[in-house]
Amino acid sequence: MLSSIISSSLPVSALLTSLLFSKDASAEILQSVSRAETAFNTLQTFYNSSNGIWNTCGWWNGANCMTVIADLAVLDVSVRATAIDVFNNTYTVAPGVNPNPGVEKVSGASGVPETTYTSLWPLAPLTDLFAKPGTVNASLWLDGYYDDDAWWSLAWIAAYDVTGNEDYLRLAEGIFDGMTKGWPTNCSNGGIWWDSTKTYVNAIANELFLSVAAHLANRAENSQYYINWAKKEWAWFAASGMINENNTINDGLTTDCKNNGATVWSYNQGVILGGLVELNKASPDPSYLPAATKIADAAISALTDSNHILHDPCEPNCEPDATQFKGIFMRNLQLLQEAAPSDTYVQVIQASANSIWNNDRDKSTNVLGVDWAGPFVEPADASTHSSAMDALVAAIVAN
Ligand SMILES: *[C@@H]1O[C@H](CO)[C@@H](O)[C@H](O)[C@H]1NC(C)=O
Ligand SMILES: *[C@@H]1O[C@H](CO)[C@@H](O)[C@H](O)[C@H]1NC(C)=O
Ligand SMILES: *[C@@H]1O[C@H](CO)[C@@H](O)[C@H](O)[C@H]1NC(C)=O
Ligand SMILES: *[C@@H]1O[C@H](CO)[C@@H](O)[C@H](O)[C@H]1NC(C)=O
Ligand SMILES: *[C@@H]1O[C@H](CO)[C@@H](O)[C@H](O)[C@H]1NC(C)=O
Repeated sequence: MLSSIISSSLPVSALLTSLLFSKDASAEILQSVSRAETAFNTLQTFYNSSNGIWNTCGWWNGANCMTVIADLAVLDVSVRATAIDVFNNTYTVAPGVNPNPGVEKVSGASGVPETTYTSLWPLAPLTDLFAKPGTVNASLWLDGYYDDDAWWSLAWIAAYDVTGNEDYLRLAEGIFDGMTKGWPTNCSNGGIWWDSTKTYVNAIANELFLSVAAHLANRAENSQYYINWAKKEWAWFAASGMINENNTINDGLTTDCKNNGATVWSYNQGVILGGLVELNKASPDPSYLPAATKIADAAISALTDSNHILHDPCEPNCEPDATQFKGIFMRNLQLLQEAAPSDTYVQVIQASANSIWNNDRDKSTNVLGVDWAGPFVEPADASTHSSAMDALVAAIVAN
């Protein structure tokens, strides 16, 4: 029964494999899998196959919906066929709803320009704006906000991890290439801007730039190119002042390049963790995991309640962007947990997942809300739901 959850052909971690075959953990793991599968089925009630994203949430949130589906599909064979259909369809049609396509031209600096590739899985084009058979046109996925671009790059990397489809990896590389156009800012001549109009230097775009580069370093042929970018970004980011005296990360920099003191959002404490874990895999350095651990521990002190459940300061009235944040933290905390295990991380992941299921679920629809401690409150949508689902997926592995 347990072996049906995983497939031997997939890059399931040794940790997960050992957990799945440990008797003590098995009942809990099966319960976590069952909750995540329920959440997946509910998430798909929002999926719009005409436009490839999820009704009730926006463009960049769609990338995060796809990522959590991929993260579950790596672990759970029973959802994989549906997940693969979603990737295939979204790849073809979602560019049609990009709010601002092609803002950053992909120049081909990394060898991934607007080029035609032979596709393993030819796609059916709907209009000229959609993906053409056998082509990878990363410009279609760029919208002028480098963080949005990066979410899609990570989503296609996650889809690549499930499928091995090289088109997805090339698309992720092409999107990264577009992001390099945001480098450097006018703060210490490094980092990327948040946006192509250069209005703001912030944490999320820079953490994502590091994370995408580090993920690609472990997957793409040109590994050293991506390692160099990830290291350059980390050197700049660590010295940028965005990591404050408490080891939490504020939102961004002022126009004179000082920490702007803006909100310590959960996702800004999260993306950097996965980025450093991936960078440490690609190019080990004894400082990376301790740096990540320091940030994770500080974030947990700052953002969890006395029951170890994660919160963002905006709850329960978060903007539609912020409803996505906590799941992103969880997804990345789980990556750190695999690389640098800690009972505290397991406790936060399990407590959050259990509370989501017991206290933050609409019992009639199984839709999950924004306040993980509960009670369930409207509005609950594909963003609140997919974010909470990230915690349910992390709970499968964090034991
Ligand atoms: C899909 O989204 C479009 C907007 O892009 C909307 O008009 C349409 O009704 C949605 N379809 C479904 C089945 O929800
Ligand atoms: C890629 O998409 C952009 C729109 O963002 C378009 O201008 C360009 O012609 C496309 N390139 C190819 C090779 O289809
Ligand atoms: C992807 O979608 C296309 C168009 O619907 C289809 O022809 C192809 O078989 C699909 N590939 C896979 C692997 O599902
Ligand atoms: C650090 O934490 C202390 C105590 O909670 C707080 O007063 C201070 O404002 C924090 N500093 C920053 C930069 O957030
Ligand atoms: C950086 O550029 C922005 C305009 O894009 C400007 O407002 C700001 O003062 C500049 N900061 C520095 C430190 O040069």
